[in-house]
Amino acid sequence: MNTLIENKTIKTDHETLNSIIRSRRTIYANNYINKPISEELLVEIIANATWAPTHKRTEPWRFIVLEGKHQEKLGEYMLGYYKEHLSEENFPVSQYEHTLNYPKNATLVAVILQRSKRIKIPEWEEIAAVSCAVQNMWLSCTANEIGGYWDTSEAAITYGSKLDLLDNERCLGLFYMGYPDPTVDKPKSKRKPIHTKISIHSI
Ligand SMILES: Cc1cc2nc3c(=O)[nH]c(=O)nc-3n(C[C@H](O)[C@H](O)[C@H](O)COP(=O)(O)O)c2cc1C
Repeated sequence: MNTLIENKTIKTDHETLNSIIRSRRTIYANNYINKPISEELLVEIIANATWAPTHKRTEPWRFIVLEGKHQEKLGEYMLGYYKEHLSEENFPVSQYEHTLNYPKNATLVAVILQRSKRIKIPEWEEIAAVSCAVQNMWLSCTANEIGGYWDTSEAAITYGSKLDLLDNERCLGLFYMGYPDPTVDKPKSKRKPIHTKISIHSI
């Protein structure tokens, strides 16, 4: 329902929420412009991540913001990784430059699963909780007109795994963020009809 306040129609909260959830898209780093995300906003986005639910309040995560030469180093790492692991056909020389420069406009956050040593929770529940946290970050990006995506490729995970992790920690990929190029159309996405995803079981 819309509410009229001082001649302005504002959306009610549930409509805003629906809109943020449904307009969240995977926006890849080659579509980011060279505009940094302020530290204040970045902290707000990561703080929202930590408001995700966790079983027994373990908060099984840590977020490592990759600054300085990381964008450059990640580009070099991906180039080396793909050269080593992919055939010339699947990773032709023509893609080298693109790969090297790919992270250059991205704010990079390594997503770390940090398992509690004290409270025993099945790993899948802890990964589920981290996934909820990542979704919070992603939705917060959408609300701030920032593009984002979760890179769980082997290259991203192995890069993040080199960040001095402790023995109860595991990298679950890199979360990319950046302001999208306004001249590029937002990617479209679709979902299967909802009736194919809901069934009713009654006894
Ligand atoms: C757990 C998880 C891992 C993902 N890993 C990757 C990835 O490694 N590379 C990639 O291009 N996209 C990755 N994505 C993004 C999905 O491909 C994307 O969400 C999907 O295509 C739907 O598009 P949408 O996010 O715009 O709705 C991942 C998403 C999730 C939830």
